[in-house]
Amino acid sequence: MEHPYPTPHINASPEDFAPTVLMPGDPLRAKFIAEHFLEDARLVNNVRGVNGYTGFYEGTKVSVMASGMGMPSIGIYSYELFNFFGVKNIIRVGSAGALDPTVRVRDIVLGMGACTDSRYAEQFRLAGTFAPVCSYALLRTAADTAEEMGLRYHVGNLLSSDRFYGDEGNVPDGLKANAGWTKMGVLAIEMEAAALYMNAARAGKRALAICTVSDHLVTGEVTTAEERQNTFTEMMELALRTAGKLEE
Ligand code: HPA
Repeated sequence: MEHPYPTPHINASPEDFAPTVLMPGDPLRAKFIAEHFLEDARLVNNVRGVNGYTGFYEGTKVSVMASGMGMPSIGIYSYELFNFFGVKNIIRVGSAGALDPTVRVRDIVLGMGACTDSRYAEQFRLAGTFAPVCSYALLRTAADTAEEMGLRYHVGNLLSSDRFYGDEGNVPDGLKANAGWTKMGVLAIEMEAAALYMNAARAGKRALAICTVSDHLVTGEVTTAEERQNTFTEMMELALRTAGKLEE
């Protein structure tokens, strides 16, 4: 395919993006990251208000663009970034609800794998169940960096769900609805990682989901807006330092 850009969703060209793109779900978070953490940040996309910026973090060129919520949305943006804009690494920076009693609110979960209740994998017509996993290189770098920063973090399985509100009661009755995933040792529930990991696998690129725990589906614990902002800042520093250590 020749010059498949600008696309219907990203009005930019490949040189507008750095090799690594950080993806929060929320466009306002993307703006916040660009304004507070990046030097010389410039807006490279604003289609549908999905803010994308490219700037520098301690000398490393880095981009940040929102993914929107859910697998269809991150599926579109990650597909285009990987396949049309030459992006090599996507690090999702999001929130998740804890499913495991050993995980506390404000902890960080690095998604080594991403289980899912979605049918996203069916498009690949595999004769079995695909196991979406992150990039080991990104995971190792992020875990080493979290260690250096003294953060409380866990490495394990996420559940990427198609539903925030389900008929069986996701929130607030999340324990009952997700008891099976808890039994299988899944650490936290969110809504994007599995599609991101599948798109990375198919494109031969690298991805990692870093999540802060905003609420606890087992204990019912929640975080305040201020706590969420502070943990978000720690997670951003973790993601940006990780991006700074990656080989292009
Ligand atoms: N479900 C899905 N996504 C989430 C949740 C949840 O409970 N909490 C934070 N992101």
